Amino acid sequence: MNYNKKTVKDVDVKGKKVLLRCDFNVPMAKDGSGVITDDKRIRAALPTIQYLLDQGAAVIACSHMGKPKGEVKPELSLKPVAVRLGELLGKDIIMAADVVGPDAQAKAAALQPGQVLLLENTRFEKGETKNDPALAKAMAGMAEVYVSDAFGAVHRAHASTAGVADYLPAVSGFLIQKELDFIGGALANPKRPLVAILGGSKVSSKIGVINNLLEIADTIIIGGGMAYTFSAAQGGTVGDSLLEEDWKDYSLEMIQKAKDKGVKLLLPVDTVIADAFAPDANSKVVKAGEIPDGWQGLDIGPETVKLYCDAVADAGTVIWNGPMGVFEFAAFAKGTEAVAEALSKTNAITIIGGGDSAAAVQQLGYADKMTHISTGGGASLEFMEGKELPGVACLLDQ
Ligand code: 3PG
Repeated sequence: MNYNKKTVKDVDVKGKKVLLRCDFNVPMAKDGSGVITDDKRIRAALPTIQYLLDQGAAVIACSHMGKPKGEVKPELSLKPVAVRLGELLGKDIIMAADVVGPDAQAKAAALQPGQVLLLENTRFEKGETKNDPALAKAMAGMAEVYVSDAFGAVHRAHASTAGVADYLPAVSGFLIQKELDFIGGALANPKRPLVAILGGSKVSSKIGVINNLLEIADTIIIGGGMAYTFSAAQGGTVGDSLLEEDWKDYSLEMIQKAKDKGVKLLLPVDTVIADAFAPDANSKVVKAGEIPDGWQGLDIGPETVKLYCDAVADAGTVIWNGPMGVFEFAAFAKGTEAVAEALSKTNAITIIGGGDSAAAVQQLGYADKMTHISTGGGASLEFMEGKELPGVACLLDQ
């Protein structure tokens, strides 16, 4: 995939209406109170919005929220986002009652340079997730330029993330540009050695990433629940740990592929085990592959921590996707925390994939020590899998 895309700086937006796709799919309080529990994604969109306003553009922002499946669900309205965005920008945001209906059309037509209009949740429209050309055309019809800054949604070929680019000059915003520079740069032309740390619960959800990184990385480190499938595949006993029986053969293939390619594949040598999946469970450390029945692995052990931290110490680039253990329980967060600390001390470029790894780094207080924390969950995973991202592919090449 070509990551060298035109950006907002390559188009003249003065006096123009710009359709800006953001990823405002922010977490909301479960009680339906409309309280945004983490506004990171709104903050991440500010540099592009502010730049467009400073250039004299009128901004028509849009985003999805949740999965309303083509129905208007009031609890998934973007109204709370408009309020928060207004607070952060220090200006009133005009909120449309629909996406391409009469209210949006009228408000878009009346929009003046320096103003921001936020359309309703794009997934209130049935055509959004089907990438319906009629919806894409109607959205594009309200503007003269399309800017995509919704990195979290670039793996979706939807009307607002890709379809609109058929009808308008399409460029990236600063957030997408940053993600392309860091993740794309690490995949295409990494400062070596490139160390990839892969964790999380399932081998099956990381196959694409492991496969792609085996072609690129110098060292691959495996942690988290998926390590037990590797361990069991090699004849180890894993007790009640997470295990994907169907992926044991694949794990052995990956071990062999790493050998053939000269990629160093590091697996845990010891494990912190617990007698229950609970924050206050009894725990002890055993050698990897020697987990007794009734016990389950919830974190990497101290020897493994040392091995993994040594491996990142002299890396040129580190990509981290997936925690090393159940970091949500303090007793089993030590492995993840030690790796985060090691990353904070290395001189390497450190790139944290979105989702759980980003949450772990934030929760453990190391966020400001990392070079880049991706705002995409599924999007950064598919990027690291080497897949084409429709929301990036549709933008104009440099
Ligand atoms: C995300 O939260 O990862 C993005 O906003 C994409 O959301 P989706 O998985 O509902 O498409």
